[in-house]
Amino acid sequence: MADANLSPAGVALKKNVQAHQAVVAVIGAGYVGLPLAVELGKESFPVICIDSNPERVALIRTGQSYIRDVAAADLAALVAAGQLTATTAFGDLSRADVIIACVPTPLTETKDPDISCIREVAAQVAAHLRPGQLISLESTTYPGTVEEVVLPLLAATGHQVGVDFFLCHSPERVDPGNAHRTTRNTAKVVGGVTAACQEIAVTFYEQIVPHVVRVSSPRVAEVTKLFENTYRSVNIALVNELAMLCERMGLDVWEVVEAASTKGFGIQTFWPGPGVGGHCIALDPLYLAWKARAYDFPARFIELANEINLRMPHFVKDKLVRLLGEAGKPLHGSRVLVVGVAYKRDVPDVRESPALKLIQILLAEGADVVYHDPWVPKVAPDGWFRHQLSSVELTDDLWPTVAAAVITTDHSHVDYALVCSRVPVVLDARNVTKGIAPGGGRVVRL
Ligand SMILES: NC(=O)c1ccc[n+]([C@@H]2O[C@H](COP(=O)([O-])OP(=O)(O)OC[C@H]3O[C@@H](n4cnc5c(N)ncnc54)[C@H](O)[C@@H]3O)[C@@H](O)[C@H]2O)c1
Repeated sequence: MADANLSPAGVALKKNVQAHQAVVAVIGAGYVGLPLAVELGKESFPVICIDSNPERVALIRTGQSYIRDVAAADLAALVAAGQLTATTAFGDLSRADVIIACVPTPLTETKDPDISCIREVAAQVAAHLRPGQLISLESTTYPGTVEEVVLPLLAATGHQVGVDFFLCHSPERVDPGNAHRTTRNTAKVVGGVTAACQEIAVTFYEQIVPHVVRVSSPRVAEVTKLFENTYRSVNIALVNELAMLCERMGLDVWEVVEAASTKGFGIQTFWPGPGVGGHCIALDPLYLAWKARAYDFPARFIELANEINLRMPHFVKDKLVRLLGEAGKPLHGSRVLVVGVAYKRDVPDVRESPALKLIQILLAEGADVVYHDPWVPKVAPDGWFRHQLSSVELTDDLWPTVAAAVITTDHSHVDYALVCSRVPVVLDARNVTKGIAPGGGRVVRL
């Protein structure tokens, strides 16, 4: 669409965006928001980070990064230059030309979508809405959130979408801990509520990413993101099911998957593990399944994948009980060393981590659980633990007390050879012990 179809507010905003003079407010400065804010700052956009957590705001203000993918030096330089500021005050929204929401989208206790953060943010945006603002929701959410939840709140102000303000969904695809795939080199999907919303939003994202994919509506963008993560969840479940079948058949699942991966076409390699975790794969598919129910459509692949992935920590526990039994020990009363509580390699993130679920199960069965994770010094109480657990060092005094170890995260800098040489029974759920000689004990892969 050419500028001629944009309202005067749209024309002015587009020019401002192209000149990198538009003030951008990023609401929610976490794994998604902070890297984005820094990249925008580097492109000379004045950036305001708005976060409800005062500790995070204080850290940003002093140039300290709490997100591994954001270099403290980059953040500090932007803060020192006044290019990037941080606040807990939503009042600053009235200064923003572009507002990007990156707030959490968890599940409720009953595993339904909890979009309360999005509602809260939309209400704040509505309270400060003025003509000439672009609002982009980047949080992962169910189809219809932008048009059924956010739009009515904004439209109730009397401002007209596509004329006064511009609204889109552009899901974030960041992969924390992945140095090769970053905010800057990953294509961005954008779906605007109207053609004018789309034009302004695409123009904005073109300033910071190499490739912008236009889709016909926010709903398409919402489902695109959920499909991407459902694809991973389903394929991980498939290989986890294969792991359980291989166990029954007495086969090595790692050998099977490794052999299959040599085909080179028609198959993408996924590895089994103790379950799925993180804020995305473990949750997002359930957002889609929840919305599907409103269409009388049971999303069976999603539900089945979730069921299989949730079963994995129990499968790991059962296998551990068998291995301990073969070594003449009960689980009850035995000390088990869990190696890795982060949900994936080389990150400190424990959200939805299957290792925590495994610890919960082991504690419930009377095991004495200790853990080692160089990325996670403490696991905060979260209802699962009566007390906080601290990571133990892999020292000589530990070994005589440990009956078994379970490797649940494949962090880079852990001495797995040492664990294998000192612990009588090692259950490796991540295939990190491949090629390591057991050294007297027993090392069994999932
Ligand atoms: N983490 C990922 O790998 C990833 C990848 C792609 C998409 N996403 C999606 O992006 C969204 C954000 O995820 P994240 O991992 O960055 O979360 P996060 O928990 O790391 O960060 C969210 C931030 O929002 C702040 N916040 C919470 N409620 C707020 C409110 N009402 N007002 C202002 N600030 C508020 C929190 O203090 C926190 O700093 C989610 O929808 C998630 O599904 C996450």
